[in-house]
Amino acid sequence: MTINYSEKIPNNVNLAGDKTLQRALEHWQPNFLHWWTDMGPEGSTNFEVYLRTAVSVEPDGWANFGYVKMPEYRWGIFLAPAEADRRVNFGEHKGEPAWQEVPGEHRANLRRIIVAQGDTEPASVEQQRHLGLTAPSLYDMRNLFQVNVEEGRHLWAMVYLLHRYFGRDGREEAEALLERRSGDADNPRILGAFNEKTPDWLSFYMFTYFTDRDGKYQLCALSESGFDPLSRTTRFMLTEEAHHMFVGESGVSRVIQRTCQAMKENDTNDPAKLRALGVIDLETIQRYLNFHFSVTIDLFGADQSSNAANFFSAGLKGRFEETKLSGDHVLKNDSYKILDLEGDKLVEKEVSALTSLNERLRDDYIRDSIAGIGRWNKVIEKHGVAFRLRAPHKAFNRKIGTFAGVRVSPDGHVLSEAEWTHQHRNWLPTEEDRAFVASLMGRVIESGKYAGWIAPPTVGINRQPANFEYVRFN
Ligand SMILES: [Fe+2]
Ligand SMILES: [Fe+2]
Repeated sequence: MTINYSEKIPNNVNLAGDKTLQRALEHWQPNFLHWWTDMGPEGSTNFEVYLRTAVSVEPDGWANFGYVKMPEYRWGIFLAPAEADRRVNFGEHKGEPAWQEVPGEHRANLRRIIVAQGDTEPASVEQQRHLGLTAPSLYDMRNLFQVNVEEGRHLWAMVYLLHRYFGRDGREEAEALLERRSGDADNPRILGAFNEKTPDWLSFYMFTYFTDRDGKYQLCALSESGFDPLSRTTRFMLTEEAHHMFVGESGVSRVIQRTCQAMKENDTNDPAKLRALGVIDLETIQRYLNFHFSVTIDLFGADQSSNAANFFSAGLKGRFEETKLSGDHVLKNDSYKILDLEGDKLVEKEVSALTSLNERLRDDYIRDSIAGIGRWNKVIEKHGVAFRLRAPHKAFNRKIGTFAGVRVSPDGHVLSEAEWTHQHRNWLPTEEDRAFVASLMGRVIESGKYAGWIAPPTVGINRQPANFEYVRFN
């Protein structure tokens, strides 16, 4: 199999002149396509989808729109432009020139970081593979597929690093990224949230709002890396991540808008009546929010972590916006406040800033997430509805860290097992909630039409008109 490199694989990494990389990709690329056929969007092979494709990193190059059959999508390899004289900006190597090759002593940790990030990309495609069958509109179907092909490209970005910088074990890891499967009992994806199901579109919007935002924070931390190729590839990935979070935020917002309209038109806030009208009651939206928020914040890892400290001190993974922060960027003498459990009370305690870097990134993430919940509440407020959505307490429903297994209510009270059993159905989606939401799902394929439980978007993709045919079926 030969590949015309610049045509088929748009890139700015001199793929045409790099024989080693070509050989690695010639082996991997057909396996990637097999994986896409098996695990990518179900039944979509012949659809022509109005997608954007990145063909260069210039401002006019990363958003080229046109109809594409997804298996023919041109997954490219892009690094953000190099910064002249870039340095390692934190940790024990602070001030040294940024590394252009992998430093031997940090090789194992860097590979581990890249594999963990890379594994999430195909995982989300697997989680979302059935959703095209129940898309509430062509506009939404197109957005789903855009997210899917770009997660595929993010996988390529990480595989590029493995192939280019890690030799044989890098190639083996790149194969393994195509072998693990989301939710598989024997060979699951690495991180918990990426083995959960994304069974319906409310889950999809919550996932792209909350879990793709975890992606943003991880990518931001990696974009600070002293390993320059990792920094540059993650910086370019962030341009795509922004659209994924937009799909989530605007999706949830449109669901809320439709529900609030129905509440006003029918003068009711009774969840059962609203369900009978075919819209999703705000209480159910809150339970979905609680679930996705709590599962996602587990992705940041344990609140006290020697790995996190090591990754930072080694210059591999920084804090959010590291270079904009004040201080010495070494953190040896700094502390950070984390939450702890004392009896049945949640208390703050001051610990080493280095070992609590996961918690710090989680806190940055939480602040950002809450801002969007505030924007959802504006929609509710505008309709004159009294309900407000809230982020649950960060100790709620945790499976990782100090609060794993501790029962905490969404408002932050430590509970007995009996109290939890009595109330958790009010706080997390129940089987009935999921069955109800599932009952609303059904594919709408007429241009400009939307399922009854969601409002249309305010503007089209790439400013296309309201009745634009975002997907053509063949
Ligand atoms: Fe991604
Ligand atoms: Fe994403």
